[in-house]
Amino acid sequence: MQIYKGFELKELNTFSIACKASYYIELESKEDIQKLSQDEYFRTLPMMIKGGGSNLLLIGDFRGAVLHYSGDKVEVLEEDDNSILLRVESGKNWHQLVLETTAKGLWGMENLALIPGEVGASAVQNIGAYGAESSQVIEAVHSINLETGAERKWTMEECIYGYRYSIFKEKAHQFEVIYAVDYRLSKLPKPDLHYAGLQALRELSSITPQRIVEEVICIRESKLPDPNELPNGGSFFMNPIVDKQHFIHLMLQYPDMPHYALPEDKFKIPAAWLIEQVGLKGVRDGKVGTYPKQPLVIVNYDDAYSYEVVDFANRIIEAVREKFDIELHPEVRMVRSGAQDSIGNIGK
Ligand code: EPU
Repeated sequence: MQIYKGFELKELNTFSIACKASYYIELESKEDIQKLSQDEYFRTLPMMIKGGGSNLLLIGDFRGAVLHYSGDKVEVLEEDDNSILLRVESGKNWHQLVLETTAKGLWGMENLALIPGEVGASAVQNIGAYGAESSQVIEAVHSINLETGAERKWTMEECIYGYRYSIFKEKAHQFEVIYAVDYRLSKLPKPDLHYAGLQALRELSSITPQRIVEEVICIRESKLPDPNELPNGGSFFMNPIVDKQHFIHLMLQYPDMPHYALPEDKFKIPAAWLIEQVGLKGVRDGKVGTYPKQPLVIVNYDDAYSYEVVDFANRIIEAVREKFDIELHPEVRMVRSGAQDSIGNIGK
């Protein structure tokens, strides 16, 4: 375990927001998590578990301990003619894992290439793109509870995955440190090319997961800003979901509105379209702005403070609410200093 005092997190969040944490702790093993859970001093501090920092907006200095699990081992648990079961430690870089598995001809992660972040986020956030979600390949998640030190294996069903959702986002589970994720990948071809941008690949006589990865990288690079060049946290908002009545009302006014039908008479509307319709695509406001090619992404153009990002996000939320009566919800996780519980205070 490495403990750093008064640690600057600017380099460790892709939004590149300056923020000091009273402590930054690198957990390197399960034993480190258990040791920390028994530490009387750290139990009194607000705690925040951080992954790759690619979906995070830090608001103000963090007066507490920011934890990160850095183990990144990959282990084969089972293998037969049809599939392979991998256990991957949560600090492993996600895109690196996608490259390694697809290079071996394994199917399941190819549509999720070039998503920034780490394996832990695939279990918490249910990362998704181009018609696929990480929960489709997750078989189990392993965690240790910081409050009790108890180890737990969660089946995929117990994680209750939904659109960018898992049980680990609930406050009741905020102290589960995920240290590994088990993924079941297929050796048999399973291309998922229903997303409009990937349909051209259907014409190919043979297709490999690596070929899909190449295409996905190409699409992402053409639409999304590279956080190393233009700091950002990916999609800032989730795509909102409306009920049938609201949907019909909107379609009568905007017959060309893009949408995806969901079960139970619900409809998902692309937030990018809503933002474009309120005239905020590619708009810059001081140091922040929406990315011209994908307005769902808010970019930090010039060393912005987090409040500038929040103010701009609120401007978007209000404009969309006013025109469409739709509430946009951030996808990016916002962490406010002092708003986090300490382990010793849970349930009090
Ligand atoms: N659109 C516009 N104007 C634009 C861009 C898009 O109207 O400037 C509309 C178009 O109708 C387009 C639709 O929005 O068809 C969807 O756009 P896109 O395919 O780019 O995807 P998205 O719904 O905006 C989601 C994810 C992305 C993921 C893409 C690709 C969310 C919040 N975002 O965006 O994920 O890469 O699909 O599948 O679900 C992320 O989570 O950080 C992320 C980038």
